[in-house]
Amino acid sequence: MITRVADEVALASTGAGSAGSAGCGGRAADAQQEVVLRDGLRVVVRPLDAGDEAAIVSWFAGLGAETRYARFLAPLERLDRRTRSELARVDHFDHEAIAAVAPDGTTVGIARYIRIARRRSAEVAVAVADDWRGRGIASMLLDRVAARARAAGVEQLTAICLATNYTVIRLLSRLGPTTVGPSDAGLVDVRIDLMSTRPDRSPSRAASDGRRD
Ligand SMILES: CC(C)(COP(=O)(O)OP(=O)(O)OC[C@H]1O[C@@H](n2cnc3c(N)ncnc32)[C@H](O)[C@@H]1OP(=O)(O)O)[C@@H](O)C(=O)NCCC(=O)NCCS
Repeated sequence: MITRVADEVALASTGAGSAGSAGCGGRAADAQQEVVLRDGLRVVVRPLDAGDEAAIVSWFAGLGAETRYARFLAPLERLDRRTRSELARVDHFDHEAIAAVAPDGTTVGIARYIRIARRRSAEVAVAVADDWRGRGIASMLLDRVAARARAAGVEQLTAICLATNYTVIRLLSRLGPTTVGPSDAGLVDVRIDLMSTRPDRSPSRAASDGRRD
């Protein structure tokens, strides 16, 4: 039987607080984990440390031109210092990024959310190195980012994607009830409701307080 992510092995607990708590400032509360991918390869999954620009540079180096265009919606040849610094400016509450790191230390995938102006919605984005596609990395990172966003009080994730980016639209729509609407030329606006898929809500409880599940 093929499983999407076969197994997860907790390696180390590096922070205080309960797993799943987003924390506020400093290092994220949950541990880094070793994850066995569907093809047996392993990656370590960890929240990005604030200021870890080296991980951003490593990740960007693995993205081909089409991947960069799909992620940044622009033909980005290289990351300028400002973008690098913005991408590394995580605080584990308003801005969270989860990275997948290969055994050789290369960062092969990053998913993140960035809260929109103190609201209960946040932008979500993901990109996986070209050589690491189709192994379930994006699905796994998005699941974790969505869980952390929920824990930080985010109720809706949004993304602007290429209208032809069916892979990411499908991956995002697995996070919760999703609407896909027109945006600019060639782009779509994807909105995911995180509230109706909160893991702590059993169907009976959801029914009893009148919300859909
Ligand atoms: C979209 C993207 C993040 C997916 O990453 P990924 O790690 O390959 O995704 P996963 O392996 O978790 O899932 C990919 C899905 O496409 C399917 N797929 C089929 N062939 C594939 C291929 N050659 N490459 C990737 N996925 C493939 C996979 O089977 C999987 O579907 P499934 O879960 O139903 O089996 C990656 O392609 C990417 O970085 N794209 C460019 C950046 C981007 O578009 N970002 C979105 C901006 S929000």
